[in-house]
Amino acid sequence: MKRSAINTIMRDADAFIRSHGFLLPPFAYWTPEVWAGKGDEVREIVECGMGWDITDFGSGDYEKIGLFLFTIRNGRQADLKRMRGKLYAEKLLITDVGQVTPMHFHWNKSEDIINRGGGDLVIQLYNSTSDERLADTAVTVSVDGVRRTLPAGSKVVLTPGESITLVDHLYHAFWGEGRRVLVGEVSVVNDDTVDNRFLAGVGRFPAIEEDEPPLYLLTQDYARYYSLAR
Ligand SMILES: [Fe+2]
Repeated sequence: MKRSAINTIMRDADAFIRSHGFLLPPFAYWTPEVWAGKGDEVREIVECGMGWDITDFGSGDYEKIGLFLFTIRNGRQADLKRMRGKLYAEKLLITDVGQVTPMHFHWNKSEDIINRGGGDLVIQLYNSTSDERLADTAVTVSVDGVRRTLPAGSKVVLTPGESITLVDHLYHAFWGEGRRVLVGEVSVVNDDTVDNRFLAGVGRFPAIEEDEPPLYLLTQDYARYYSLAR
């Protein structure tokens, strides 16, 4: 993806998020220059992958296959192992009409996906087989605490205010319908560098073509701009 396109998506997303009465935390607006002056006190943001995360999943066509994410909070895998500390994560997502997040599951993460406003959110669901293919078995999910059992490949439509629980190993793909959708995600601690199994072998983070300076940093930029990043 071109950096200029990512900057445009950031400006656009910020306006969309504000239009829904939601606000991002202060570190969302730190410029590369501000980041360069930060010390050890911001290590949590870097190590937990908090911040802007915009991806075309390597498709080269963000409008068709892509997702806007902002990780508001996240914990550490070490805390998860000892079952103490910050064991949770929260993200804000934006998906446009017909903009698909490709079919994937998480080996470890269970997540609630929440329609926070805008259009409808369509989520297609399959169980996974032991060899990580699509299963043809019926899928049982919880939609705001109400259990539903649906045929393989069914699409659940979440209207604003509704949410669904997606457990580990449950394949899901989603996109907006009618209007752009502001989506919330509440999950267990999450490491996106290792916990995504895409059915079609797509990439999780985009390659960036630097055609202008970054407006704000993506989580994948921290290693380059934050002096204490490993
Ligand atoms: Fe997911």
